Amino acid sequence: MGILLNTEYLKGHVSHDEIKDLAPRVLRAHKDLHEKTGAGNDFLGWVDLPSRTPDALLRDLADLAKEVQGHSEAIISIGIGGSYLGIRSTVDFLGGEPRLPIYYAGHNMSTADMVKVLKIIEKKNVTVVVISKSGTTTEPAVAFRLVDEAMRRKHKGEDLKKRIVCVTDGKKGALRQIADKEGFRSYVIPDDVGGRFSVLTPVGLVPLALSGVDVRAFVEGFRAGEKEYGVADLDKNICYRYVAIRNILNKKGKDIEMMASFYPNVQYVTEWWKQLYGESEGKGGKGIFPASTILSTDLHSMGQMMQDGKRNIFETFVMIENVADKVLIPLDPQDTDKFNCVAGKDLDWVNKQAYKATADAHFEGGVPNMTITLDKADAFHIGQLYYFFEKGVGISGYLLGVNPFDQPGVEAYKKKMFVLLGKK
Ligand code: PA5
Repeated sequence: MGILLNTEYLKGHVSHDEIKDLAPRVLRAHKDLHEKTGAGNDFLGWVDLPSRTPDALLRDLADLAKEVQGHSEAIISIGIGGSYLGIRSTVDFLGGEPRLPIYYAGHNMSTADMVKVLKIIEKKNVTVVVISKSGTTTEPAVAFRLVDEAMRRKHKGEDLKKRIVCVTDGKKGALRQIADKEGFRSYVIPDDVGGRFSVLTPVGLVPLALSGVDVRAFVEGFRAGEKEYGVADLDKNICYRYVAIRNILNKKGKDIEMMASFYPNVQYVTEWWKQLYGESEGKGGKGIFPASTILSTDLHSMGQMMQDGKRNIFETFVMIENVADKVLIPLDPQDTDKFNCVAGKDLDWVNKQAYKATADAHFEGGVPNMTITLDKADAFHIGQLYYFFEKGVGISGYLLGVNPFDQPGVEAYKKKMFVLLGKK
């Protein structure tokens, strides 16, 4: 079944006619993306990246993965934003036991987190993947200094060289200079793919391949997305319908999109989505605020606000149709808790009833909602979902009238921090 979009709980909030009226503008945005005639058109490399991803890269990564899995017990992945979230989101979404676990650094400046990573380097044989498109971002640069020093204490010469892989710009930036000077292996991030759109470039592919993710299936999922969500017809393209619905709801005062999932392995997918949508849309006083919850955990905290608070929210559920395991609920002869009604049922069936009840209750409480359902939590489907959201935000940004491919606002804190740090 791939990926489906259910819109039954938009009734009374978004009509078929409203979507039809918006269609010409969505199709105009589609044309601007595909013909590179819109704002930020030098950052559109991601649009056809799935079909352009060369087999030679996948073969190279398979060889690298074999080698690294032979000498390392873990990966340290250093990066922030688009150079971090897609990796973590994919690994968490797939769950299970990866061939090599990934420990993350460079996405904060927490001493406690860094001490844990340095201890891993002391105890285990690791390979470090340091990722930065600009090669100059403070958090990963500082983390790499510390990690590099710890690695040099343990490994020398060729042994050190084979354990550090850089993913960065082909020509510019400090990380490119370091890779070239030290002779570390390096992979290039294409110029025309921005950080938050880069999970299909070596940014995501290198650490994911090393950890043992089926990157071929991941690429195939992206390719399915490129094909399905490239169709210029809203009746056939669920991605474009999702975009049109958000835009219509936003015009009616729904300023917050709450992405909710009953599957905790989706948590970092929502974090990745928050960066993609927040950095792409939040400009010039515009944009839908992207928020997320994991249910039913948060029903016992955010549930009240969702049901009964200010009605400026719409909700997008992400569901998984088929889960890998079956866990049957046992019968209790005493039935003290009165839950023998679910005895013999699969736990995921109960989870899905909680979802149905929540979608219905939130709709009745004035929160229009829609549901994106993935057939299963595998590398193919997460690749397809990433492309769904990437295409969606490109179109959505053009509808809003912003350039979805820059992030001038992110610079503001950096400038002030550099002054405090005394950086030239
Ligand atoms: O989407 C973006 O471009 C940014 O959020 C970047 O991903 C983030 O700032 C990390 O940048 P870099 O990879 O240059 O270190």
